[in-house]
Amino acid sequence: MGAEQEKEEGTTVGIRATVGLEPWGPRDFPVLERSNTPAMTVYLGGPESAEKLATRHAKYLRLVESGEAAMFTVHVDSMADAVGSVGYWQTVWRDAPVYECGWSIATPHQGRGYASAALAACVDHAVDHGDRDLLVAFPRTDNAASNALCRAGGFELSGVEDAEYPPGNPIRVHAWVLDLAERRSNHRHPG
Ligand SMILES: CC(C)(COP(=O)(O)OP(=O)(O)OC[C@H]1O[C@@H](n2cnc3c(N)ncnc32)[C@H](O)[C@@H]1OP(=O)(O)O)[C@@H](O)C(=O)NCCC(=O)NCCS
Repeated sequence: MGAEQEKEEGTTVGIRATVGLEPWGPRDFPVLERSNTPAMTVYLGGPESAEKLATRHAKYLRLVESGEAAMFTVHVDSMADAVGSVGYWQTVWRDAPVYECGWSIATPHQGRGYASAALAACVDHAVDHGDRDLLVAFPRTDNAASNALCRAGGFELSGVEDAEYPPGNPIRVHAWVLDLAERRSNHRHPG
């Protein structure tokens, strides 16, 4: 994954909307603010403080700059503001270096396929630009929308695990796995 990320190609949803990704930038703090509501953070331990949110924004910028993460804002062609965010970052799972991904689509824009389109574009980016074999996601077991998103996005359910989110708060999560190496190999040997 290089530090420089080009604008991603759009993915068409239905017959009208095109969903595209743009690399996280210095002006994207409001995207985090819009996703920091009680409704949006039910499965994430509740809204973060203003200080923690600012730290998160700075961390996204730093990791994108260093190439340790690929974080994006999600855009729908007809709307001025980003509808949410998606991205992946380096982590270790079961003693192996992998990428973990995450997502957020603001409440007024949910249920229209935007997360599915954004995740598909994010997976394509990890296939094309990443150098790790697996992409994993850990939605809380009761997060119906995120679990449905993983299933629809081609991830396979690997099992239920104990986790902490935020740190210090024990939760049960589904471990979803997508084989990036297999996708790369399919790209090289189509059909
Ligand atoms: C998860 C989230 C990104 C989904 O965004 P979205 O744009 O509404 O999702 P989509 O419309 O693309 O739908 C994706 C899949 O989830 C399903 N889905 C969406 N909302 C759902 C819900 N509330 N319950 C069950 N399934 C749901 C859709 O039917 C679709 O599955 P399908 O293709 O099999 O029909 C959004 O709910 C969100 O931001 N939640 C809060 C943040 C969060 O929990 N982040 C993840 C932490 S792991």
